[in-house]
Amino acid sequence: MRVAMIGAGYVGLVSGACFADFGHVVTCVDKDGERIARLKRGEMPVFEPGLDRLVAANMREKRLDFTTDFAGPVADADAVFIAVGTPSRRGDGHADLSYVHAASREIAAALSGFTVVVTKSTVPVGTGDEVERIIRETRPDADVAVVSNPEFLREGAAIQDFKHPDRIVVGTEDERARKVMENLYRPLYLNQAPLMYTTRRTAELIKYAANAFLATKITFINEIADLCEKVGGDVQQVARGIGLDNRIGGKFLHAGPGFGGSCFPKDTVALIKTAQDAEAPLRIVETVAAVNDARKRGMARKVAAALGGTLRGKTVAVLGLTFKPNTDDMREAPSIPLITALQDMGARVRAYDPVGMVQARQVLTGVEFCDNPYSCAEGAEALVIVTEWEQFRALDFDRLRSVMKQAVLVDLRNVYRPGEVNGFAYYGIGRTPRT
Ligand SMILES: NC(=O)c1ccc[n+]([C@@H]2O[C@H](COP(=O)([O-])OP(=O)(O)OC[C@H]3O[C@@H](n4cnc5c(N)ncnc54)[C@H](O)[C@@H]3O)[C@@H](O)[C@H]2O)c1
Repeated sequence: MRVAMIGAGYVGLVSGACFADFGHVVTCVDKDGERIARLKRGEMPVFEPGLDRLVAANMREKRLDFTTDFAGPVADADAVFIAVGTPSRRGDGHADLSYVHAASREIAAALSGFTVVVTKSTVPVGTGDEVERIIRETRPDADVAVVSNPEFLREGAAIQDFKHPDRIVVGTEDERARKVMENLYRPLYLNQAPLMYTTRRTAELIKYAANAFLATKITFINEIADLCEKVGGDVQQVARGIGLDNRIGGKFLHAGPGFGGSCFPKDTVALIKTAQDAEAPLRIVETVAAVNDARKRGMARKVAAALGGTLRGKTVAVLGLTFKPNTDDMREAPSIPLITALQDMGARVRAYDPVGMVQARQVLTGVEFCDNPYSCAEGAEALVIVTEWEQFRALDFDRLRSVMKQAVLVDLRNVYRPGEVNGFAYYGIGRTPRT
């Protein structure tokens, strides 16, 4: 089948490369000329493990191409995917649908023959209706079915997630569209991945409900962690103890500095707005968003407490800046409000991230960026682990201690166990502090 993928960001690029790998012929279309030029040269605009090889292999086989031009790829396509960004709209938190609407207009102008237009971007309920309206208004003659097919991949494990999904949700009531979607996903379907058909509106809601639920799980365990610290308990054991119950499940029960990233923060807020407008407010999700926002900055107070209550004139070394390991994505990373709060409290901040330094430099100011964990720790009064990159799991603590002014470790991801880090005053999350 022929696929046009509109938007060559995380989702568009990974989905496009994976569809090509299934044997379909895919053209990724992006407005950003520089991004397309880089992709054509084989350079990845985002860091995602395995993506460069997947893209190169499928370009070689002539199943994957990149362009800024909508016309040819859309006219030739059996399915056109919309995978453009849906960031938070400035001012009110609703999803900004301007990119989706602009893409819909351009797609409409180029359509030829029966085409399935698939929204892969995360969009509020009813967006599919609007995409269809735009297309029909622009091209009353178009033979088109508009389908919702939300994406559930995680950055850092995106290819594995796309190729081995827990489920594929397809929102359509159109028989012809259903056949096209079935053919597109046939390799996964043969692999037993459940293909779930539902209405377009329900599919749109499933994506937001899933993200809001996962964000709730994280926030729940974060609050349990705070309680553990106050009353004397170990949040990791609580998480294990409840997670072994199949009704709860152990995933997304890792206490930490609060969720961030390109999806959860904006998607929870957008869902809250949709629900408020519909006069069916989601109080739990509203609380989750508020608790999480407060938590990220609150982590700076944890660092201050570890240093006796004040940060003025102190140097803090931060390890890990991206919102999670194995990505260079800094969107809504907990490191950003944490570092700003540390600076507001008078601290000097040094920082290191294995992959995200280029992105981090664009969003953080007044930070001294370092080449590795050890140069980062030089002269610091506290070392703070913010992102649990693999390379932070076996740090040489003797070496760190020898370059630090004071041996204090604040481990916001519970990478280490209290008592394991000899010679350091250790502060984790949800466990009573111990030296
Ligand atoms: N990143 C994730 O982990 C993830 C996971 C699931 C779903 N999503 C959703 O997928 C969507 C895309 O997210 P992303 O992280 O890939 O975004 P992104 O910002 O990485 O990429 C979006 C791309 O779309 C391009 N674009 C914007 N308007 C365009 C237009 N009119 N025509 C052509 N290209 C255009 C941009 O230049 C950019 O390259 C969002 O709705 C997001 O919520 C993201």
